[in-house]
Amino acid sequence: MNTDPRPTVYIETYGCQMNVSDTELMLGKLTASGYESVEKPDGADVILINTCAIRDHAEQRVIGRLGELKSKMKREAVLGVTGCMAQRLGSQLLDRVKHVSLVIGPDGYRELPSLIESARAGVRATSVEFDLEEHYEDFTPRRFDGVKAWIPVQRGCDYKCTYCIVPTTRGPERSRQLAEVIRETESAVASGISEVVLLGQTVNSYHDGTNDFADLLRAVGAVPGIRRLRFTSPHPNDFSDRVIRAMAEIEAFCEHVHLPMQSGSTRTLRRMLRRYTREQYLDCVDRLRAAIPNVSLTTDIIVGFPGETEDDFEETLSAVRTIGFEDAYTFKFSMRDGTPATRFPASDRVTDEVASDRLARLIATVRGANRERNMGLLGARREVLVEKPARRGGLLQSRTRDFKTVMIPGDLSLIGKYLQVELTGTTGSTFLGQIVAQRASLPMAG
Ligand code: SAH
Ligand code: SF4
Ligand code: F3S
Repeated sequence: MNTDPRPTVYIETYGCQMNVSDTELMLGKLTASGYESVEKPDGADVILINTCAIRDHAEQRVIGRLGELKSKMKREAVLGVTGCMAQRLGSQLLDRVKHVSLVIGPDGYRELPSLIESARAGVRATSVEFDLEEHYEDFTPRRFDGVKAWIPVQRGCDYKCTYCIVPTTRGPERSRQLAEVIRETESAVASGISEVVLLGQTVNSYHDGTNDFADLLRAVGAVPGIRRLRFTSPHPNDFSDRVIRAMAEIEAFCEHVHLPMQSGSTRTLRRMLRRYTREQYLDCVDRLRAAIPNVSLTTDIIVGFPGETEDDFEETLSAVRTIGFEDAYTFKFSMRDGTPATRFPASDRVTDEVASDRLARLIATVRGANRERNMGLLGARREVLVEKPARRGGLLQSRTRDFKTVMIPGDLSLIGKYLQVELTGTTGSTFLGQIVAQRASLPMAG
């Protein structure tokens, strides 16, 4: 029998880490306001779907999910849509999906408790104003991950890449005060966390009026107890020498950078308004590699952007081969309403057939290079941080400083620990590892 009178809330999260971090803030706020967080939508009093709008596919999934929830949710439950799709569609969503009663954009979460209260009394509402002061400093995030902390340091984006909906859904760029980021880092450490990932859409353009990203990295890296420091995603143009020097000098900074390239063709990059050429991107890679030996690089790439020719695509393939990315997140271009890319002439469109073919060739190129490199690493030893149970095989998932995923045998008590492992096998992308016995029993924390 449930004797707990607290209303229950369930939040489902789509999209990037920024959304995951926002969900942690929302759950923190709602649990502090008397709600109990539950793991399933069935029977919950409040269901929130924290959405992504980056590609059409992401939105279609949410529409499908909202349909499914209609039959699952209690009749009196409140269903709310938050995040980027909420911001993009606003009150249209209330018109389109009748069982949704709240639509709240990324800057509106302060009002969640009161809007939910009203919705429970039958008032449907939309809240999609941007608030350039909003960082939710007084919210205490309820973290899902006990091993690493995702810490937003910036909200919004001031770049205007022509394909991208994010400036529309997240508004103008603003940075948190350095002292607030440090406060959050210290509180994460106090809860047993030793790895921090700083978040922002162009995180290295961080500036709080006094401190730049180099200052921020140095300050976070100096917090006692921080053993691993990462950030995502940087923009290639914002890697000043100061920032790269800080990365190289901070002991906790992990030898991995996710460096979105989008295309290897200067002509396409120009049409994307990425503000760098192929050569400038390669130069950024060289500067990072010169300062941080053995830095591993991952990237994002879009294929089938309007006007992308076979030659342009070949340039992307050749950049991928030249650079040797550890991994690449690859996407077929998706036209987003209201973005500048919608204004290219229809004759520039790349057919879905061609885009699919390019995507397959790109993935094969990335995978082929990875397999070769990863086979060459068998027998090597690495320090890993154990993250969570692996999805299959009763193994644990752990990660090296340079972002390789290593599956190791062991029990749940190892989660959160640092171990030395030998890489014994590879699927091509992830590794199998064996704990190196003499290090496994050392006290590892801290
Ligand atoms: N701020 C980050 C990217 C955020 S979106 C950056 O600038 O790198 C994550 C990735 O989604 C992008 O890097 C891009 O590769 C992809 N993406 C964004 N808009 C897209 C679109 N309209 N179609 C396909 N992929 C897109
Ligand atoms: Fe989108 Fe470009 Fe901003 Fe990244 S930098 S969020 S791709 S507009
Ligand atoms: Fe998606 Fe919004 Fe992130 S559009 S990728 S959830 S910033």
